[in-house]
Amino acid sequence: MSVEGSRVTDRHFRYIEERTTPEDAFLRDLRESAVREGIPAISIGPAQGAFLQILLQLRGARDVVEVGTLAGYSAIWMARALPAGGKVRTIEFNPRHAAFASRWAARSDVADRVEVHVGRGIDVLRTFADASADAAFLDADKASYPLYLEESLRVLRPHGLVMVDNAFAFGQLFDERPTDREAPAVQAFNEVMARESRVLSVIVPLGDGVWVGVKRD
Ligand code: DHB
Ligand code: MG
Repeated sequence: MSVEGSRVTDRHFRYIEERTTPEDAFLRDLRESAVREGIPAISIGPAQGAFLQILLQLRGARDVVEVGTLAGYSAIWMARALPAGGKVRTIEFNPRHAAFASRWAARSDVADRVEVHVGRGIDVLRTFADASADAAFLDADKASYPLYLEESLRVLRPHGLVMVDNAFAFGQLFDERPTDREAPAVQAFNEVMARESRVLSVIVPLGDGVWVGVKRD
């Protein structure tokens, strides 16, 4: 099938963003408040949030694990896709960011569905039981992505969803000398994912690129 003429351009990205179900006022306030408190403005975009929700709903997910809470923006997007009794266990290394996220999650419509864990991603993941999650979203320090993936595959149930942010390395995927110090780690992780036979996976060009995979068994 030819895709000539269907290459995704910046114009397509804008077109998608303009037609995707937008964030609500609460999430907009959260983002603006995070900026005022000096938290880096590097959350997922609304199109990614809507996409994660769709995936979680299709999967019928109840239990989600996230590595890299930041301000809690993506955790709230995901928690809204879960049924009553569902839970996002989200892990944040920075105590100040974790406190912000906890405060906003507690004020949200999904206060009962977000649980913020403070600590190193890998340390906290290791405390989670085998086969206790339906989905994992990795969006933390990129050098640790291979470790997070390995541990997530233990924590995920069969046919669990693996979602990983920043497959396009902050737009520097093809740069020979990327300025972002984490870009080489993303490039290396993408090769790990590409060779990972336990996961059926694809990179979806939304936001900075998001890996979506399904654990095979
Ligand atoms: C950046 C963006 C991200 O989504 C992330 O997880 C980390 C860093 C950035 O733009 O620097
Ligand atoms: Mg990210």
